[in-house]
Amino acid sequence: MYKLVFALLIIAIPFSVRCQSGKIQEPVVKPFALIAGGSKGIGFAIAEALARRNYNLVLIARDPDTLLLAKTRLESAYPVEVFTLSYDLSREETATAIAQWCTEKNIRLKMLCNVAGLGGAEDYLNLSLDSLRYMVRLNVESCMAMSLTLLPLLEANAPSYILNVASMAGFAPMPAKNMYSATKSAVIFFSYSLRYQLKEKNISVSCLNPGPVFTKPGIVEETREKLGWLGMKMAVSPRKVGEIAVQETLNGKLIIVPGTAAKLMSTIIRALPRRLVVKIYNNVGK
Ligand SMILES: NC(=O)c1ccc[n+]([C@@H]2O[C@H](COP(=O)([O-])OP(=O)(O)OC[C@H]3O[C@@H](n4cnc5c(N)ncnc54)[C@H](OP(=O)(O)O)[C@@H]3O)[C@@H](O)[C@H]2O)c1
Repeated sequence: MYKLVFALLIIAIPFSVRCQSGKIQEPVVKPFALIAGGSKGIGFAIAEALARRNYNLVLIARDPDTLLLAKTRLESAYPVEVFTLSYDLSREETATAIAQWCTEKNIRLKMLCNVAGLGGAEDYLNLSLDSLRYMVRLNVESCMAMSLTLLPLLEANAPSYILNVASMAGFAPMPAKNMYSATKSAVIFFSYSLRYQLKEKNISVSCLNPGPVFTKPGIVEETREKLGWLGMKMAVSPRKVGEIAVQETLNGKLIIVPGTAAKLMSTIIRALPRRLVVKIYNNVGK
């Protein structure tokens, strides 16, 4: 009998120690990041950089097929869960609907990335009023609305992060990209102030301002044609932009400019008087 009890103890003690240590049985609760505009381009690269750091993801975009492709790519490469929601972020009701979905699903939201935005070769005076309104709604209103409606979840999971994607185009007025640079400067100003407003809530706000990122062939052509050698030097790959954006957001940096040449150029642009920069841009942009 004694021998039997002794044998059972020998088996049971290491097992209970392993359970108490918590290393084997404790469920790993991964944080979530939501990427508005996460199915392609810079948004997808940000999603991938977060997946590499073990974040579960919620990706928002309009096209369900591209979303599914992104989900499949991420889930097959990383041990994370990816939810996809097909919404048009320029629509007034979208931000509330997404926040409601996240709350119902009890999403442990640690990072909100407002990435989706519209630019392009055509701008003010060459676009219809409807297209210009769409640009303002997508670039500015969606960023403002998503940050506000998801704030309670970010606060509940603090310390947490908001990453807004603006552009180097937001550092100075650009006549050829008038509304684009105006919307991106609004995102930069919004981020500066929001960072102070959310400091006490332990939510860090960052703003990514890339130079050229070759997410589609049109951007390569436009950069080569309008900015020449310097533009090509400033270009950074989407993957690198995603990695830098996430790393520096987690480090709590406010203004993020990926790439040495782009960083140098943006420092000069921000230091020069606006009247001079707008003149230079006016000549370059023609
Ligand atoms: N690429 C550059 O050179 C560059 C430089 C500086 C700043 N940026 C900024 O970086 C951001 C991303 O640019 P990108 O070149 O990576 O763009 P992209 O390749 O066109 O990807 C845009 C993403 O946003 C989604 N999206 C677009 N419109 C949407 C809408 N109305 N509702 C919901 N989702 C929408 C797209 O999916 P669906 O089309 O399926 O909706 C896609 O997932 C933009 O804000 C842009 O201004 C880009």
